[in-house]
Amino acid sequence: MAPGPAVPSFPQTRMRRNRQHEWSRRLVRENRLSTDDLIWPVFVQEGASTKSPVATMPGVNRYTVDLLTDAVGEARDLGIPAVALFPVVPAGRKTPEAEEAYNPENLVCRAIRTIRQSHPDIGVICDVALDPFNSDGHDGIVRDSYVVNDETLEALCRQAVVQSQAGCHVIAPSDMMDGRVAAIRTALDEAGHDRTMIMAYAAKYASGFYGPFRDALGSAGALKGASKATYQMDPANGDEALREVALDIAEGADMVMVKPGLPYLDIVRRVKDSFGMPTYAYNVSGEYAMLEFAAQAGAIERDKTLLEMLTGFKRAGADGILTYFAIDAARLLRGV
Ligand code: PBG
Repeated sequence: MAPGPAVPSFPQTRMRRNRQHEWSRRLVRENRLSTDDLIWPVFVQEGASTKSPVATMPGVNRYTVDLLTDAVGEARDLGIPAVALFPVVPAGRKTPEAEEAYNPENLVCRAIRTIRQSHPDIGVICDVALDPFNSDGHDGIVRDSYVVNDETLEALCRQAVVQSQAGCHVIAPSDMMDGRVAAIRTALDEAGHDRTMIMAYAAKYASGFYGPFRDALGSAGALKGASKATYQMDPANGDEALREVALDIAEGADMVMVKPGLPYLDIVRRVKDSFGMPTYAYNVSGEYAMLEFAAQAGAIERDKTLLEMLTGFKRAGADGILTYFAIDAARLLRGV
């Protein structure tokens, strides 16, 4: 500890004094989770009047666009500021060049337009990355078994522009290509979309915690166990995350994100302290699954634990959390 005035110790100091009453605990509480902190990631699928459960994420569904409208309406009514949309692209539309990513009539663009029309006051965030559309399951274009950087940038820019044209408020590049934030910012500006925000997945790790997400999207099948380690970060690295974030800020990111969340709260804290940027953490699919399956097994108390987990993100310095628990957390916070 830094030298300072002598701190009186026990028995003068009793840390438990402030913890005696519910009211005094409220009075000394340092961090508060609110519905304003929540971003709800939602899976969208083709078809009508269907929602299909994701087996490895109990309680999470993939919605057809018509049902998505109701689901997003619920989020809006609970005070959740924004949703992040993830399309489940049929295998037949996935190609090595991922052309479907920049088809203005693709599933995610249709979903964006529908939500913007039905719920104009909720924020719409969309990933930019090729993995839902790529028959190789990678976030970029593969040439000679390497995910090529600069050629991928062109596809990402086209994807960002069609999504923005469809009405997406926030473009969230999750691909980890070098230079993508600057390229996307330029492409958006040239298309007249200077108001579209960029939330960069700035420090995104090559994580085992994405497993259930890839099941939900069907990208696990395409990826066939291949690793994303040539573009996503090594989980052992922390300083490198700060370099990634610094670059994305320099390239024009409006908000930055750390992903996954729980094993990387040290990175969230360092990023927030180093840059003072709007900083978000992604409480990813595997973190959701861990908690849900543990609760199902009777190992932990679900509601208490999920609020504790999300409060931990706030304590680490996150301004907001992308979480599949958003709806449940909002209900718990509002007591409804
Ligand atoms: C795709 C993407 C992934 C996630 C969000 N965007 C998976 C990946 O990079 O393989 C993971 C989200 C989650 O696990 O909840 N670029």
